[in-house]
Amino acid sequence: MNQHSPVSRPNNLDAFWMPYSDNRHFKSHPRMLARAEGMSYFTADGQEILDGTAGLWCCNAGHGRREIVEAIQKQAAVMDFAPTFQLGHPIAFEAAARVAAMTPEGLDRIFFTNSGSESADTALKIALAYQKARGQSQRVRLVGRERGYHGVGFGGMSVGGIGGNRKQFGAMLPYVDHLPHTHLPGQNAFSRGLPEHGAHLADVLENLVALHGDTIAAVMVEPMAGSTGVLVPPVGYLQRLRDLCDKHDILLIFDEVITGFGRLGTNFGSDRLGVTPDILTMAKGLTNAAVPMGGVAVSNAIYETVVNGAPDGIELFHGYTYSGHPLASAAAIATLDLHRAEDLPGRARAMEPYFGDAAHAMKDGDKVIDIRSIGLVAGIELAPRPGKPGARAMEVFRTCFDKGVLTRVTGDIIALSPPLIVEKPQVDRIFGTLADAIKAAA
Ligand SMILES: Cc1ncc(COP(=O)(O)O)c(C=O)c1O
Repeated sequence: MNQHSPVSRPNNLDAFWMPYSDNRHFKSHPRMLARAEGMSYFTADGQEILDGTAGLWCCNAGHGRREIVEAIQKQAAVMDFAPTFQLGHPIAFEAAARVAAMTPEGLDRIFFTNSGSESADTALKIALAYQKARGQSQRVRLVGRERGYHGVGFGGMSVGGIGGNRKQFGAMLPYVDHLPHTHLPGQNAFSRGLPEHGAHLADVLENLVALHGDTIAAVMVEPMAGSTGVLVPPVGYLQRLRDLCDKHDILLIFDEVITGFGRLGTNFGSDRLGVTPDILTMAKGLTNAAVPMGGVAVSNAIYETVVNGAPDGIELFHGYTYSGHPLASAAAIATLDLHRAEDLPGRARAMEPYFGDAAHAMKDGDKVIDIRSIGLVAGIELAPRPGKPGARAMEVFRTCFDKGVLTRVTGDIIALSPPLIVEKPQVDRIFGTLADAIKAAA
């Protein structure tokens, strides 16, 4: 065993029901990560695994950052926990102020959660509460998009548009509708940055308004859909969605759980894509994933209406025991310090051309049927093996892991999103290993 490894191989894997996993396969072929530092994980055997995915799109500043570790340690010794229901502690307010200083102008009020899923459900609930508070109680409908991912709560799952995530769980929320997804491989295959075709797909919102009248409260989309396998918004699409929401008095929510904190080369995807929502969700990179934390940034107008417009007493009957948790707040402040000190969005911007070149060099005219990239994100779509969807990409994932590179697989799409501190030789290693694995795959 590696002498640095604090974790030996557990000899009983039964108790942990692993999330989003093939438990039976894993437990007969375990792949254990025991330690992490900088750009890499290390297995219990000491093998280095270069992190091509920033964990799960979340360790944007790299692993084991001393500044974040020390901030968490220090806070744990000062105050482990205190409620934020009708009480406060300074570090949560400081964290919110720091986040508000980064979010797009006008989205200055921050509600803390513990995850992306909670952020999505919180955003939907705030949208409904806002509509009610301003006298539009009939606006109860929520609109998402096919292939959207907003986590696993009932709100996010219902507004989300990935069939596989819904099929086990019954009827979903009522009053939810969906826009079409924006994947047009016939016209946009092998696009770099924003694909040219597809802005018109936002116009389907007009059809939904014709159908549902003035009962739509909010539209929620990811500015760049990550979990479904990297779908970059077509040129003009988000602006059109913004204009239609304004025209019909509907709130626009961006789920920035993946696109926040530098992934697209700017603080938030909204900054890169030039469209500002009314509500913006975040998680993952907020604390570099060192302590779970999410957040929802809302416009001042929404806050004013829901909070200042309410009678005395609690204005929003919503919150989590751990909203603004002291350790998470400390991790967030230290993370945002690192973002600024090291200009992580700037690093992503500077690396984007090299990373994009490497991604698009995966085109092989045979197994690779599409490549999409923006910022430090790339999706490489493989032709499915006949009768076995997902099997080819899963084989590639396993080969890459065995060769020391962590990738992520959704169906037959391989997604790459390394920490924003990635260097050129590491980009070369990620894509070199991937190219070999694709070549070797049946
Ligand atoms: C856009 C988006 N929203 C929500 C979530 C859910 O986040 P969590 O797994 O932290 O609940 C994710 C996770 O990948 C995501 O990508």
